[in-house]
Amino acid sequence: MSDPTQEDKQQVLQDDKLKQKSNLTTHVISPRLLKAIEYQTPISEFYGKATYMSRKNEPGSLDFTLGDAHEMPSPGFVEALQRWSVPQNQGWYGYKGNLWESRTTVSTALKEKRGLSIAPEDIFMTNGTVVGLAICLQILAGEGDEIIINFPPWLGYRRMIHMSGATPVGVPVKAETFDLDLEAISSSLTERTRAIIINSPHNPTGKIFSEKTLQSLANLLTDASVRYGQPIYLISDETFSRIVFDNRPCTSPTQFYPFSFLVYGYSKTLMAPGQRIGYIALPPTMPEREQIRKMISILQGSSFGWCFPSALMQYALPDLEKLSLNIEHLQYKRDWMVKELREMGYKLQPSEGTFFLLVQSPWEDDCAFAELLASYGVFVLPGTPQEIPGYFRISLTANEDMISLSLPKFQAAREYAATNPPE
Ligand SMILES: Cc1ncc(COP(=O)(O)O)c(C=O)c1O
Repeated sequence: MSDPTQEDKQQVLQDDKLKQKSNLTTHVISPRLLKAIEYQTPISEFYGKATYMSRKNEPGSLDFTLGDAHEMPSPGFVEALQRWSVPQNQGWYGYKGNLWESRTTVSTALKEKRGLSIAPEDIFMTNGTVVGLAICLQILAGEGDEIIINFPPWLGYRRMIHMSGATPVGVPVKAETFDLDLEAISSSLTERTRAIIINSPHNPTGKIFSEKTLQSLANLLTDASVRYGQPIYLISDETFSRIVFDNRPCTSPTQFYPFSFLVYGYSKTLMAPGQRIGYIALPPTMPEREQIRKMISILQGSSFGWCFPSALMQYALPDLEKLSLNIEHLQYKRDWMVKELREMGYKLQPSEGTFFLLVQSPWEDDCAFAELLASYGVFVLPGTPQEIPGYFRISLTANEDMISLSLPKFQAAREYAATNPPE
């Protein structure tokens, strides 16, 4: 290679100066994305500060923070993947879009399990709930729009809404019952409201919103849509719709409101969030469905970069659809923990669905109490970063050994908190 010329050297110098001058981050990342990621959600601030979250992986720690698996996958899960991993033709592992086999599987399951009639062509396979939500937000929302979320919200909503360019507007659920506060929702709707996200069963409260509540919500959304001369959409996050206790009915709000997207993912039911599959379903009442179908397909095929579940997950879906984690066992763990914690003096209501129990913190400062539990080796998610101060969340996906070992520690922390103020 020849020696650099004077011109080359000059160029290098200029490049160096440019690098020093400009802030590389702002230069590389688009202003829209920068704005979205610079926005600190309460949970991202917490993760940034909380040292004890990094300790939860220490040997012997009892981690109840997230809905992670602490047991082996459901019987049949591995067999289904093994069976469908064997190619049946040359194109088995070729590019896959919304496979007709998976769409019809979902359509049949929605009819049988939820009583919903949704045509296969109105079902769009996604890499789990989160991608379904992102697609809906990309379609509906942009700069200047508002998206209503009920808080405590699932930890991902705020950041996702900012990514779309819109602004989240939080409306608290009712303090006593954790039910939707329809009056508060109604007074938060403006001409800028583009959509509302409803999550039932609700993470983290475990509340299932009743048919009556969802019907009233539909009525008020219809009134507001008429008032503002444009539809307010409903995005229904139904990721926990099959994790319900005491055989409670879990109604889909999409039954009552035409401008609805039903979003689901199998992560929870299969207890295997690493094997991604889920869907968006459009109810038959949704107006302008043809246009929405096209938009979803464009986003799946290009903007999100061939964003479909893997061939394996789609082919295996007819078998996977029949499987579920053991709800009876989950309910047994719920009842066991509710009884034991209540006897220790903790205040809590049994959850109606989801993986979670929401417990009142004995200290007003829930983060301090979570730190106290952590000092005993028990890790829970405090309420403040989940936007429900004064509580902490326990995941019932913990196994029985973890629960047995944790109970004396919950008791010791409760007793300590009763006689000592937070440090
Ligand atoms: C309410 C809610 N929505 C969405 C998700 C994301 O689910 P998925 O793994 O299907 O993307 C979760 C995960 O915890 C959740 O709790």
